[in-house]
Amino acid sequence: MPNPDIRVFKTLEELSRHAAARFEELARLQAGNKRIFSAGLSGGSTPKLLYQILASPTVSSRISWQDVHLFQVDERCVPPDHPESNYRMIGEALLSRAPIPEMNFHRMTAEWPDRHQACEHYAQELRQVLRPGAGEWPRFDLIFLGLGHDGHTASLFPGTAAIHERTLWVRENYIERHKVFRLTLTFPVLNAAEEIIVLVAGAEKAEVLREVLEGPPGSAKFPAQRIQPASGRLTWCVDEAAARLLSKLSRSVG
Ligand code: 6PG
Repeated sequence: MPNPDIRVFKTLEELSRHAAARFEELARLQAGNKRIFSAGLSGGSTPKLLYQILASPTVSSRISWQDVHLFQVDERCVPPDHPESNYRMIGEALLSRAPIPEMNFHRMTAEWPDRHQACEHYAQELRQVLRPGAGEWPRFDLIFLGLGHDGHTASLFPGTAAIHERTLWVRENYIERHKVFRLTLTFPVLNAAEEIIVLVAGAEKAEVLREVLEGPPGSAKFPAQRIQPASGRLTWCVDEAAARLLSKLSRSVG
């Protein structure tokens, strides 16, 4: 990957506090410019502490939530109260604890039987809030992504159709290995963002992180290697455990 900005933190907590501070800083900048602040939230386990920090009274009270619009990066095709639901995790960690107006959180209705209709519905919400120009991709101010053990990000898994999507903003993706459908934002939307922060923590991610960040130049073996913002800022925020196999040259201390 061409010279990404890699920030190494001692712990997941330090990493999460840094990410929360960046969210707060960007939200405040947008509020100062009388503009909404749009953010894409990934699921999984890594970002849970980040969302809890954003919901904590000290941090939450400094954010003008009425000017913040939160979207999901991806969702499992399960009911919203299912243990596997990303919405359920985000709800427990953030939505149920911070004064976020209900209309400012945009849920992926991935449980709908007609997944194409669910994607259309979500694309319409993106259009209404982010208001891209004709022929433009919707542009988030900030997107939080994670990294799976197989090098996936969002629900863009190796060998799946959605990693090649260049037209749709959000689409269904069948994950053969897990025998499940998911809905996911596509790479053109992710890469249109003003800023992307990829959160990676834990020793079990060390090998895939090294391969993704230090693999052969131009490699796209892993979907996460396709995270290449057209003009936005990309930062990999990783903890020491996940960074242990990275060459010393490629990292800066948190
Ligand atoms: C999801 C996420 C996914 C996640 C990675 C890492 O729906 O699971 O959006 O892309 O970021 O799988 O997950 P962990 O943070 O649990 O390791």
